[in-house]
Amino acid sequence: MPTDMKAQLLEIFHRRHACHRFDPSRSIPREDLEFILEAGRLSPSSFGLEQWHFVVLTADEDKKALEAACFDQPQVGTASCDVVILAKLAELDPDNPYVERLLAREYAGEQLAAALANYRTFHATTDVTAWSITQCHIAAANMMTAAAAIGIDSCAIGGFRPDAVSQLLALEPGRYAIALVLALGFCAEPGGEKQRLPLAELVQYR
Ligand SMILES: Cc1cc2nc3c(=O)[nH]c(=O)nc-3n(C[C@H](O)[C@H](O)[C@H](O)COP(=O)(O)O)c2cc1C
Repeated sequence: MPTDMKAQLLEIFHRRHACHRFDPSRSIPREDLEFILEAGRLSPSSFGLEQWHFVVLTADEDKKALEAACFDQPQVGTASCDVVILAKLAELDPDNPYVERLLAREYAGEQLAAALANYRTFHATTDVTAWSITQCHIAAANMMTAAAAIGIDSCAIGGFRPDAVSQLLALEPGRYAIALVLALGFCAEPGGEKQRLPLAELVQYR
């Protein structure tokens, strides 16, 4: 990797911050929103099952209703848009054709049968909701980095009432869990200095 790419990426990671209030008068261009969603789509996922589903809210009344479901956090209502990241549940059932369709992109014949059997055991012994939400958080991280790279601010919102968000989106019961809300826009205030523990406290080389 060229050195300047390292410097560019580090600059993006330093600059990205959790925005707590957006400028409500500024909208994200559609192509920029699609770039951010594309970064989510291209994210890695366990078994390659792309556990995420993105619902984009842009209407003021929807953003306000979502803000109320997020304990009145103002960044939700002032954002240009909010991406509600849903974690698939029903599609991840081993008997759902979705699983075979996606596994068949990687395996065929006996290998596909073995992969399906392996997945069935995994599914039966896993907290599927937590596992699915975890994959969505990976997509969210990539989306926040992609947004920062093109000068768009974001805030991950884990503080929400799942029942209220489900009701707002009229979700089919049992189909999805709410993974995260991603508020996107142009921040109304500058980010503070990045506060992180030093690598020396976080890393062990063995
Ligand atoms: C999964 C997740 C959930 C979060 N939920 C909220 C939230 O509900 N409200 C909020 O203001 N920030 C939320 N944040 C942002 C964090 O508070 C923030 O990323 C952290 O304090 C580090 O600050 P920085 O992102 O500005 O570097 C969330 C972040 C993550 C990763």
